[in-house]
Amino acid sequence: MKVDDAPHNLEAYDTFYRTFQWKSAQKELDWFDGKLNAAYNAVDRHAHTWRKNKIALYWEDETGNEKKYTFEELSFASNKIGNILKDFGVARGDRVFLFLPRIPELFFSFLGILKIGAIAGTLFSAFQEQALLDRLGNSEAAVVMTTKELKPRIDKIRKKLPALKHIIVVDAESFITSFAHAPEELHISHMDPDDYAFMLYTSGTTGKPKGVVHSHRAILQQHMTARWVLDLKDDDTYWCTADPGWVTGIAYEILGNWSLGITSLVYAGRFDPAKWYELLAKYRVTVWYTAPTAIRMLMAADTELVKKYDLSALRHMCSVGEPLNPEAIRWAIKTFDKPFHDTWWQTETGAICIANYPSMNIKIGSMGKPIPGVTAAIVDDSGTELGPNQEGNIALSPGWPSMMHTIWKRPHKYKSYFTRHWYISGDRGMQDKDGYFWFIGRADDVIKTSGERVGPFEVESALVSHPWVIEAGVIGKPDPMRGEIIKAFVVLKNEQRKSITDKKSEEALKDELSLYVKKHLAGHAYPREVEFIDKLPKTRSGKIMRRILKAKEMGLPVGDTSTLEEY
Ligand code: PRX
Repeated sequence: MKVDDAPHNLEAYDTFYRTFQWKSAQKELDWFDGKLNAAYNAVDRHAHTWRKNKIALYWEDETGNEKKYTFEELSFASNKIGNILKDFGVARGDRVFLFLPRIPELFFSFLGILKIGAIAGTLFSAFQEQALLDRLGNSEAAVVMTTKELKPRIDKIRKKLPALKHIIVVDAESFITSFAHAPEELHISHMDPDDYAFMLYTSGTTGKPKGVVHSHRAILQQHMTARWVLDLKDDDTYWCTADPGWVTGIAYEILGNWSLGITSLVYAGRFDPAKWYELLAKYRVTVWYTAPTAIRMLMAADTELVKKYDLSALRHMCSVGEPLNPEAIRWAIKTFDKPFHDTWWQTETGAICIANYPSMNIKIGSMGKPIPGVTAAIVDDSGTELGPNQEGNIALSPGWPSMMHTIWKRPHKYKSYFTRHWYISGDRGMQDKDGYFWFIGRADDVIKTSGERVGPFEVESALVSHPWVIEAGVIGKPDPMRGEIIKAFVVLKNEQRKSITDKKSEEALKDELSLYVKKHLAGHAYPREVEFIDKLPKTRSGKIMRRILKAKEMGLPVGDTSTLEEY
């Protein structure tokens, strides 16, 4: 069908338009008899073209180690991992989790897992035993790949993971030897586009983290948005600063960027303004995808610092994960002579859905417009579309290619995302008369700290497992640098309460609780602020009313308290 043949009925037009868009993406990727493998499309097909000797990955760590891999080398390295995993008995559909820092083996392994039809799960290396247990337990992972340094955290919980058959330590002598000897050739599984490829655990307001499952088809949208929104072209050097423990690191540090054959930089180190500018200059990075907290931290660094580096290669910059404040865009225009382009999406959406793509005029403070082929709207709680400038739920019309396939073992949770004809994102926003979307906030209690998504329930559970704590309520407290910080309101047992005699003893208790969460749950998900209170505001049915804690913290009216038990 040609574009001119498009039917005029709007709904039909929409279906046609989407099909048309994704069909063009489909043509660019290699599908064999309706089968496709995302890892093959990301790497191997380039190893069969002129890109064979093109650098796919520049890698550098904090201590100055540097490595680089061509598309062919990446293809071979991931084939080797696929072969090793097969020798361990890994079969199609098995879950293989990566508990690895951002080392090259993480990238080889992710691709190798997909190539043999297994499902890759990524775990942020700041996770501690509770976070690991929740994720590995629920997914019933058969294999965990890790390092000598991180392995003790898995050892601690191993007895509670009956499905876990192997722990593969990628820096152990035995693995290094088998990697060296493993065959470079691998039969790559032809997958149905709907077969599961990777999963990520993410947080909601209640309950444990949920396993968001994506299929091989997701690469379609990752591929097209890497072109349309990140504007990646063959001569680019691209740097995505995300960790593959989060969805951005999978979609745009592995699949979308490499499926376009783009040379990509990975830096395995902590944030440091001088180092970041040095990397941008040294690799002559042309396209940069990062997050607002990092941008704000760069803004806060010495203004003279950036002037020491030649950043003239930079031509396009994008941001994701949390609201991109107008000051950050203005600073970027002043500093780099170009703005950051905001992009909006979620673990569940699998790829960018709303964005300021390069051909658009940016309205500073807006997230932009839905990408071609995605229909977005603002709807009320019953799924009815609202008009311009009205606040409501940011919703998407289901069916975009990278939409999550399910929530692992929780089909009801999956269903709960949908109201009538809409996928409800959990974000509040509005759309202006020109079609631009504006982010207002979360509809639930999910916390975004330094761009990372944290569920208050996980932090509360960790606090309550401390012997001093009766109960805890956790909120995201607005923070000028990190977007939000985690703040915990804690009810202490009598004995501990009495032990507080002065400011010093109180601070010592608070520090102990923060550290406890850091050590048991995750290095990034601990409360930076703790406040002791006598009682938590709760509904009559016993649910903690976090919105009241938040309103009080911010000195705002507490709103409707009709369901509140006496407080
Ligand atoms: O609240 C929105 C916020 O991040 C949430 C999704 O988080 P996560 O699943 O960890 O994925 C982050 C990276 C894809 C959203 O529900 N968020 C994401 N992008 C933006 C944003 N908030 C404001 N502006 C954005 N551009």
